[in-house]
Amino acid sequence: MVRKVVRYLNNPVLEQVAEPVTEFDTPELHQLVTDMFDTMYKAHGVGLAAPQINVSKRVTVIDITGGDEDEEPEQIVLINPQVTYTEGKQTGEEGCLSIPGFREPVRRPRIATVRAQDVAGAWFEITGEELLARAMMHEIDHLNGVLFLSHLSALKRDLIKRKIRKLQKAGEWE
Ligand code: NI
Repeated sequence: MVRKVVRYLNNPVLEQVAEPVTEFDTPELHQLVTDMFDTMYKAHGVGLAAPQINVSKRVTVIDITGGDEDEEPEQIVLINPQVTYTEGKQTGEEGCLSIPGFREPVRRPRIATVRAQDVAGAWFEITGEELLARAMMHEIDHLNGVLFLSHLSALKRDLIKRKIRKLQKAGEWE
């Protein structure tokens, strides 16, 4: 089921540290993951974190194909993820489904290794480069209440915040 994506500044959940998942393989957890993929694909995103659908849990889903019909899906579910290793740097445009319409260059590691649990609770490790490294870092940031705006200069961040407040006032930011 497609859920509503919460927008930045409208809901404090996006700036809160999400709670660890402690129960695995439950119908609720399976449903949450399914709903997150549905919501992400509908919005043409490559990643989504549970707080973005107003669920303050440490769950993220990623598919860097973005549901492109010409490509095999590459669904990744990261539960209680921890970044264990990073290497190098990359700078590229980043956006966020909770801040639609704004894209800015963000510097991230070029390679990232993450340890996480799957829906059954089993620990695994995954290493991503380029877009996958960027997506994992962006989504794990969400679980710590951090948005990509935090990686911009204060000047740029304030400018975007002002624009969002204007859109809120105009009723164009629901
Ligand atoms: Ni995001």
